[in-house]
Amino acid sequence: MFYDALENKHGLPHDPFKALAVPRPIGWISSVSKSGQANLAPYSFFNAVAEKPHYVVFGSAGIKDTLANIEETGEFVCNIATYELREHMNMSSAAVPRGVDEFPLAGLTATKSTIVSAPRVKEAAAAFECKLHQVMPLPGVGRYRQSYHLVIGLVVGIHIDDRFIKDGLIDTGAMQPIARLGYMDYAVVTPETMFSINRPEVDGNGQPVRSGAWDGKYR
Ligand SMILES: Cc1cc2nc3c(=O)[nH]c(=O)nc-3n(C[C@H](O)[C@H](O)[C@H](O)COP(=O)(O)O)c2cc1C
Repeated sequence: MFYDALENKHGLPHDPFKALAVPRPIGWISSVSKSGQANLAPYSFFNAVAEKPHYVVFGSAGIKDTLANIEETGEFVCNIATYELREHMNMSSAAVPRGVDEFPLAGLTATKSTIVSAPRVKEAAAAFECKLHQVMPLPGVGRYRQSYHLVIGLVVGIHIDDRFIKDGLIDTGAMQPIARLGYMDYAVVTPETMFSINRPEVDGNGQPVRSGAWDGKYR
């Protein structure tokens, strides 16, 4: 099937878009207002987009409390959501008024960050402390009047729970990060769902020097 995405007449009972752009990592964003009010909420229009330096992005549908705080302070933390904390993560998405701190609501501990003013989730396996780089408005088009905002953050500090560092590598299978699929579905990374492939290498004649077959060597 094909359909015009602006008209969005897909003929299906639910918009399939978010079930196709999968799995989306969850940026579990903590922030603080200028007056010191902490806030926490999950964003699955989220990803890492650069590594030298490290940049992350997330998309906010309109200006929610998270974005309002980030615009006030220029800082936020992106906590990594894992299977163990799935219920807490979900609870922190509750639509509560701006003055309400989702940390106690979700049964989580807000702990001080090292560089930025926003607190981080103490229980999280990892967290990226970020400084706001830019907020880019994404205007509504056609029948869609909702405006989104793309928030770009420079990662200035990274926390990792030492339990998940094994032989110098992140033990992703043990950490069990969760990701958003479509509808109400989620995915979880476990050792059973992971696989490794070598980056292929070719010589000047385009002949393979190294195939994709995994040789157990991290590069
Ligand atoms: C797993 C998950 C992912 C979400 N992703 C987004 C997202 O990418 N963008 C967005 O605007 N809202 C997203 N939401 C909804 C927000 O978390 C929700 O509106 C929340 O109340 C916003 O909180 P805030 O006003 O404190 O920022 C998501 C909710 C869940 C449960």
